[in-house]
Amino acid sequence: MSHGNGQPSPVSAKAGTRLTGRVRVPGDKSISHRSLIFGLLAIGETRIEGLLEGADVLRTAQACQALGAGVSRDSPGRWRVRGAGIGGLVEPAGVLDFGNAGTGSRLMMGVAGSHPITSTFDGDDSLRKRPMRRILDPLGRMGVTVVSETEGGRVPLTLRGPRETIPITYETPAASAQIKSAVLLAALNAPGRTTVIEHEATRDHTERMLRHFGATVDIVRQGRGGRAITLEGQPELRGSTVVVPSDPSSASFPLVAALITPGSDVVIEGVMMNPLRTGLVTTLLEMGAEIERLDERDEGGETVADLRVRASRLTGVTVPASRAPAMIDEYPVLAVAAAFADGPTRMQGLQELRVKESDRLAAVAAGLEAAGVPHAIEGDDLIVNGLGGRVRGGSTVATHLDHRIAMAFLVMGLASESPMTIDDGAMIQTSFPRFIPLMRELGARIQD
Ligand code: S3P
Repeated sequence: MSHGNGQPSPVSAKAGTRLTGRVRVPGDKSISHRSLIFGLLAIGETRIEGLLEGADVLRTAQACQALGAGVSRDSPGRWRVRGAGIGGLVEPAGVLDFGNAGTGSRLMMGVAGSHPITSTFDGDDSLRKRPMRRILDPLGRMGVTVVSETEGGRVPLTLRGPRETIPITYETPAASAQIKSAVLLAALNAPGRTTVIEHEATRDHTERMLRHFGATVDIVRQGRGGRAITLEGQPELRGSTVVVPSDPSSASFPLVAALITPGSDVVIEGVMMNPLRTGLVTTLLEMGAEIERLDERDEGGETVADLRVRASRLTGVTVPASRAPAMIDEYPVLAVAAAFADGPTRMQGLQELRVKESDRLAAVAAGLEAAGVPHAIEGDDLIVNGLGGRVRGGSTVATHLDHRIAMAFLVMGLASESPMTIDDGAMIQTSFPRFIPLMRELGARIQD
């Protein structure tokens, strides 16, 4: 798939067989990044089980090391971090290169920026286009200096932390767990209480992990779906054990593949069912999908379930904007499901999709266009006019260094009349390195 020589590696998927079997997708990307970061900020040793060993997370592991943690890998998915502790970070010797990873870079800006050190952040051509002002603004209020930045608040950029970080109250301007988390992580090294107010609840992995490592966090519900999260600064975080559950965002690809591929019957094991991550499952159930949640249980403080998924006749629905935070990374693959459904699906309030690894709204629309699926963008809404199972396909989709665009359109190819090709599969390794072999185990015909 990735030849590591900078040459694009096209991948194709074609229909032919039903998908059957049981699979387990890798550890959750959000929790994997955070487990390493909390390991860095804790005193003592943190043990991680089920870490996602994707390229994005490995960049975070390297950055933790550069900031003073001892990071080691015992066996696949089992890692240990010896913490530097809050206030104990060292100045990194080189540039912190986060590759494709928005989450790793933004969370780490909060971590490094709140320490009296100078740190430089950079990344690949995708990360260099993504807005960082949303992180730099609250960090500026906390006393962090932006020594240099690329036009428009982009990486490469250099931060210099204050002698003492200032606790603040901050209302996030967008529904973004990354903004919330960057502020809370910076607040760990600020004396006093910091409050982050979000008007729509976003994934709460940072809050959960703060408590798990021993910080005091107060969460008050506000208005319709909002929250005020208050953290007591400068706690002593203690090294801990983190069990990383399977990533619902990665599970969404075999899940939708099974729904749209006739005759399929697949079980995806141990998928995290945190309610702030299950918007796609909710939506697909409304569309008529046969998805059963089996053996719900607790794993590492999160509810997980085995998802049994059978090929289903889907009907278009309206997906309200209020659901976006709980399925923000799943819209590309929902658009694929919607293409196979009967009637229109309207996905409302997708403005945040424009600032992901690519402009996902544009990239999805271009992919649908290439595959012959009628669709429209109206303001921040995407409307997909489902073709009732008869999607033409037969085209190549530009992935723009975006792993989720890559996987979504390969899924489409498994059920379209003619194969689908993506221009480059290399980025799949950022979040789901075994995507192609795992899909093949289910019977998928994917060629790289
Ligand atoms: C993430 C938050 C989301 C999501 C990203 C992971 C996180 O980004 O898209 O893949 O781990 O906090 P935003 O906070 O920008 O919505």
